[in-house]
Amino acid sequence: MINERMQKEINEQINAELWSGYLYLSMSAWFTQNNLPGFANWMYIQYQEEFTHAMKMFRYIHERGGVVTLKPIKAVDTKWKSATAIFEQTLSHERTVTSLINSLMDTAHEIRDYATINFLNWYVDEQVEEEANAEEILEKVKMIEKDKAAMYNLDKELSTRVFVDATLNAE
Ligand code: FEO
Repeated sequence: MINERMQKEINEQINAELWSGYLYLSMSAWFTQNNLPGFANWMYIQYQEEFTHAMKMFRYIHERGGVVTLKPIKAVDTKWKSATAIFEQTLSHERTVTSLINSLMDTAHEIRDYATINFLNWYVDEQVEEEANAEEILEKVKMIEKDKAAMYNLDKELSTRVFVDATLNAE
């Protein structure tokens, strides 16, 4: 049986992961509306990934005999000034998510919930990748945003990203 406080915090994180997905879906829409289909694809996959992050927690709470409580998902931004602004927000948001995961890990250590510590390790690793990906694209976009040909090429590169549910192999 999962500890109540741990359950409450994981439920809050489910909401945060779903919110992240909602944010990236909104960014995907912006890219589509601004004729950057490859960027839109990248963000759409990001949205799908966030939902898998939420679902991994959803399954975990049930595995531990707990109760999933889904809360309303708050509204997200719908307009941005540029692709650079979007990736700045993406990177800063991923850093926030990393700190949320770290707080969950703090709680798990405090209450000596070793199963949850193990479970959360997957997210600790994932956040390293999430921040690195956002940072890499942000640096590229900052360099080339005013150069249409270079943006076209980066858009083509981002159109090749495909969705893989990385949470399934990890269980
Ligand atoms: Fe679920 Fe982008 O971290």
